[in-house]
Amino acid sequence: MSLSFPALATAGPARVVVLISGSGSNLLALLEAARSEGSPLEIVAVVADRDCSGLQHALDYGVPTHVINFADFASRDAWDASLLTCITAAEPDLIVCAGFMRVIGPELPELYRGAIINTHPALLPAFPGAHGARDALTHGVKVSGVTVHVVDAGLDTGPILAQAAVPVLRDDTPDTLQERIKGVERELLVNTVAAVAVHGYSLEGRVAHLNLPTA
Ligand code: GRF
Repeated sequence: MSLSFPALATAGPARVVVLISGSGSNLLALLEAARSEGSPLEIVAVVADRDCSGLQHALDYGVPTHVINFADFASRDAWDASLLTCITAAEPDLIVCAGFMRVIGPELPELYRGAIINTHPALLPAFPGAHGARDALTHGVKVSGVTVHVVDAGLDTGPILAQAAVPVLRDDTPDTLQERIKGVERELLVNTVAAVAVHGYSLEGRVAHLNLPTA
């Protein structure tokens, strides 16, 4: 597959919908970045799959929130359909999964091809799934990290846009490693989403390159 994903923030900031499930520290970093003068990002809605504390960050910044509570739906298809309706109503240019702990159905990645970005707390393709930090620790790797990637139909399988390494320390627990990863993750996520908005990226097969200007 080859794809040229265009620069979006040409006539104004790119419209971004952020999906969350938890404390929303990555969301907060995106909200802060979007508020800064001349930012290429505008956070137009925050959507959660459950009631979670991260929603408060959106409220603090005056951004509309929506809870499409998975537990309220009779089937996964019904939840997926509701999520799709909610997201499309916000007319996003980009969708960012920032600690969204739910696999999304195939329709969204098909409709917003190349425009959904996820952050994962491990160096993919190692340790996909819901417990990236814990699984890396259990495996005994000495370096883990964070991956920001394009979402495709698989679980944490999409083309990689950016990665950063985080050393695993001898006394780490899943929580301490996860927290150190999050310290690096916020900046990588904000910078990568902004770079996609400003420059776009190209894809050859599964190899993605941000279209960064050459010096
Ligand atoms: C992040 O580390 C994300 O990669 C993982 O869950 C964490 C969410 O943190 N899937 P927060 O809700 O942004 O604080």
